[in-house]
Formats: sequence, C-alpha cells, structure tokens
Amino acid sequence: MNIILIGPPGAGKGTQAKRLVSARGMVQLSTGDMLRAARTSGTEMGQRVAEVMERGELVTDEIVIGLIEERLDSLEGTGAIFDGFPRTLPQAAALDRLMAKTGRSLDAVIEMQVDDEVLVERITGRYTCGDCGEVWHDRTRPTAQPGICDACGSTNLQRRADDTEDALRRRLMEYYKQTAPLLGYYFAHDKLHRVNGLADMDTVSDVIASTLAQV
Ligand code: AP5
Ligand code: MG
Repeated sequence: MNIILIGPPGAGKGTQAKRLVSARGMVQLSTGDMLRAARTSGTEMGQRVAEVMERGELVTDEIVIGLIEERLDSLEGTGAIFDGFPRTLPQAAALDRLMAKTGRSLDAVIEMQVDDEVLVERITGRYTCGDCGEVWHDRTRPTAQPGICDACGSTNLQRRADDTEDALRRRLMEYYKQTAPLLGYYFAHDKLHRVNGLADMDTVSDVIASTLAQV
C-alpha cells in the first residue's frame, strides 16, 4: 500500500508516519527529512536548500522530485508513506509518472486537518531526536527525562531552525497557495480521505488505520 499524508506544518504527518512504519513495516519518505540531511552535506546545494527552508519557502520541484525518484528506485518494505511530498501540482504529476514507471499505485491520500491556531503551539513546542528522528513536544509529548530521547537514549535533541512563528507564517502561506490545490486534485481522483488531526495522537492513528482498512 502506498499513501500520502498531506496537511499544514505541524499537522502530525511525521508523527503518524512513524507510527505507520512501526505498525505496518511501511517506509517513510519525508522530503523535509531528506532535505535536512542534504543541508548538512556541506555542498553548495545543501547551503542553498538550508536558506530556503529557514525562510519557510518551498525548495524547487526539480530537487525534491529528484530525491523521491532516487528513493523509489530502491524502495523495499510493504509500501511508501509520502510525508510532505507532493507539495505542488507539478510534484503530484511527477509522482504519478514515477509510480507508473516503477509499477506502483497510489492507494490513499490522507488529509490531516488542524486549525491554524493549534499549529503555532505544536510547532513552537516541538523537538526532535537528532539520532533516531523521534518527534517530541514540550507539552503534549515530553520525553520522560528532560534532554534524553526515550526511544534511543540519545541526548542529541534538537529544535528546527524553521520552527519560529515567522517562518511558520510563511510555511502556512506556502501550504495554502501551493499545496492546498492538491486536495482538489486527489478528490477528483477519488483518493482523498479527511482525518481530524486535532484529536489526540492515538485517536488519529486509529482513524487512519480504519480509513486504510477500507481502501
Ligand atoms: P517538512 O519537514 O515536511 O515540514 P512541514 O510540512 O512544515 O511539516 P512539519 O514536519 O513541521 O509537521 P508535521 O506535520 O510532520 O508534524 P509533526 O508530526 O512533527 O518540510 C520542511 C521544509 O522543507 C519546507 O518548509 C520546505 O522548505 C522544504 N520541503 C519539504 N518538502 C518539500 C517539497 N515536497 N517541496 C518543496 N519543499 C519542500 O508534529 C508537530 C508537533 O506536534 C510535534 O511536536 C508532535 O509531537 C505534536 N503532535 C503531533 N500530533 C499531535 C496530536 N494529534 N496532538 C497533539 N500534538 C501532536
Ligand atoms: Mg514532519
């Protein structure tokens, strides 16, 4: 099964993708995570990407499509969870083409709906383990001991450079301008399922599981 998780910054895409990886053996393909890895590569491209991300703007279609194409060529596991990709109509068209080329099909697009006011709190309270990628939150999901990742024991907990109120405003604007039109695209292809992302994390996981059981 191959699915897309779509939603504004802080909707819970990464959180739910990680749960689907554990529960179903699927592979998470997060273009945000891939770009953050490229950023630390020290290349000129990495530097340019870092600046764009920090401002809360979108990286070029060409770069992210290239990243996804590379990963799809060698994909193993029981299916892909596209997390944060596609984000523009050209990216959606490229995904259709790449899926067809590799003999795969898209089963469902899950839209995670969350009110804008809640996103500010989610984003400004988030921190992530730099070693295993587990996502935490100051209030809703703190680590048991401050400064230590419950999942892997690492003390390398980090906040993202684009998790400021200013950058979030720009990220939200990009979402409404460039990504929200994809909801109509996938609705027209009869793939779109809406989930209330305001519910607690376990409830969201249950609703996604029952949605996927029906496709
Ligand atoms: P990306 O990394 O994809 O960021 P995003 O889309 O802004 O989404 P986030 O990762 O911020 O949020 P999330 O939905 O994963 O939420 P999370 O689960 O962490 O992209 C970053 C940048 O990279 C972009 O701005 C762009 O520059 C570039 N980029 C990436 N992909 C691109 C593409 N395809 N094209 C062009 N550019 C691209 O949850 C957030 C917090 O809330 C956490 O602390 C979590 O613990 C908490 N939380 C989660 N669920 C719940 C819940 N149900 N209740 C309470 N708290 C919750
Ligand atoms: Mg994420």
